[in-house]
Amino acid sequence: MNVRAAPAGPALTMRDRMAMYTGNALKIGLFGANCSSGRCVTTVPERWTGSWEDNLALARMCDARGIEFMLPVGRWKGYGGDTDYMGTTLETVTWATGLLGKTRNLIVFGTVHAPLFHPLIAAKQFVTADHVGSGRFGLNIVVGWNEDEFQMFGVTQREHEQRYEYAREWLEAVKLAWGPNENFEYDGRFIRLKKVRARPKPYGGTRPLIMNAGASPTGRAFAIRNCDAFFTQADRTSTETTRRHVQAAKDEAAAHNKELDVYTVGVVTCRPTQKEAEEYYHYATIEQADWSAVDGILGKKNISPATVGEEEFQKQRHHYAHGLGGLLMVGDPDRIANQLADLSRAGLRGIGFSFVNYLRELPYFCDEVLPRLERMGIREKRKG
Ligand SMILES: Cc1cc2nc3c(=O)[nH]c(=O)nc-3n(C[C@H](O)[C@H](O)[C@H](O)COP(=O)(O)O)c2cc1C
Repeated sequence: MNVRAAPAGPALTMRDRMAMYTGNALKIGLFGANCSSGRCVTTVPERWTGSWEDNLALARMCDARGIEFMLPVGRWKGYGGDTDYMGTTLETVTWATGLLGKTRNLIVFGTVHAPLFHPLIAAKQFVTADHVGSGRFGLNIVVGWNEDEFQMFGVTQREHEQRYEYAREWLEAVKLAWGPNENFEYDGRFIRLKKVRARPKPYGGTRPLIMNAGASPTGRAFAIRNCDAFFTQADRTSTETTRRHVQAAKDEAAAHNKELDVYTVGVVTCRPTQKEAEEYYHYATIEQADWSAVDGILGKKNISPATVGEEEFQKQRHHYAHGLGGLLMVGDPDRIANQLADLSRAGLRGIGFSFVNYLRELPYFCDEVLPRLERMGIREKRKG
C-alpha cells in the first residue's frame, strides 16, 4: 500500500513532551478535578462539584497561569457515604479531549484502566485527543484495584502480578498502533491482534507521555521499565528518604537505558497565615470529613478493625481522610513554596495536587506561591 501519512504538525521530541513544553524544573499539576469532591473526602458545602463547567473554567485558568498539567482519576463508581464521594465523574479521555480543544499550553492526561479498554480503540482515542491538543495528551495507565468497579463491568480482575503482565502487553500493542508499522500483528499471552492498521499516528512524529503510579514492587517495576513518568508517594517526614527513593527509581530506569521523571501527589491548603491554613484544613478534613465514605474506601481495601486491629484501623482512617495518602501541604505561601522547593531538591520533576475547591483556591496559590518559586529559581519567570 502506498498511502501518504496525513501531516501531523511540527516535529516534536520525546524530550519536549517530557518537559511538558516548559523550562520549569518543578512541574505543577492538578489531580482529581474530574471527580466530585476531587481528592478531599469532605462534606463542606464548597467541596468540588466535578462539573464540566467548573473543569473547563479550571483548565482555562491553569492554561493562563502556567500550570503544566491536569491529571484525572479513573473512577467508575462512587464510594458512598454522606456525599457519595467521587460518585459523579467525567470519563477521562473524553474529558481530556474537551479540555485540550479549549486550551493552548496545558498537558491533559487520560487515566485509563487497561483491562477495560480494547488497546486498539484506546490507541485511537489517545491519538485523536493528541491531535486535538497538538501534542498535549498524556496517558496514565492503571490496572485497577477496585473489585466493585470490575463487577460493574462483568470483568474478572486478574491476580495482582498478572494485571501488570497484561498491562505490559496492552501498552506494547498501543505503542505499536502509534508506531510506523503497517499491518502489524501482535501475538501475546493475553492480547492477539491480526493485520492491524492504525492511522493517523500521534501528533508531531512522537508519542504521548506515558505515566503510571504502581506502588507494589511489580507495579513500580512496570512504571520504571515502560513509562516516562513514575508517580510515587513522597515521604511525609523526610526529604532525604524521598530523595533516595527518587534516585533509586531513576537509577533502575538508567539501567534499562531509559530516562524517567519522578512525580508525586499531594493536597494543598494555602492561606495568608499558617493559623488560617491549619484551621481550614482541620475544619474541612477532620471536623467535616465524610467519615462514612472514608470507611467505604477502607472497606474496599479490606481494612477494618477485624482485619488489621483497632489501632492500625484508626491510623489508616486518618491517613485516608488526610488526602488519601498524598503529601500534606498546609500553610502560608512561604511554607508551601519551601515544601515544593524541597521536593524539587529531592529530585522530583513535579507534583499533582488537589484543593478542596480548585477554582476558588488556585488563584491565591498562583499569585503567592508561584512568584516565590520563581525567585527560588525552581520555576521560570512568566512572561507578560
Ligand atoms: C497519582 C496516582 C494516580 C492514580 N490514579 C488511579 C486511578 O485513577 N484509578 C485507579 O484505579 N488507580 C489509580 N491509582 C492507583 C495506582 O495506579 C496503583 O494501582 C496503586 O498505587 C497500587 O499499586 P499497585 O497496583 O502496584 O499495587 C493512582 C495512584 C496514584 C499515586
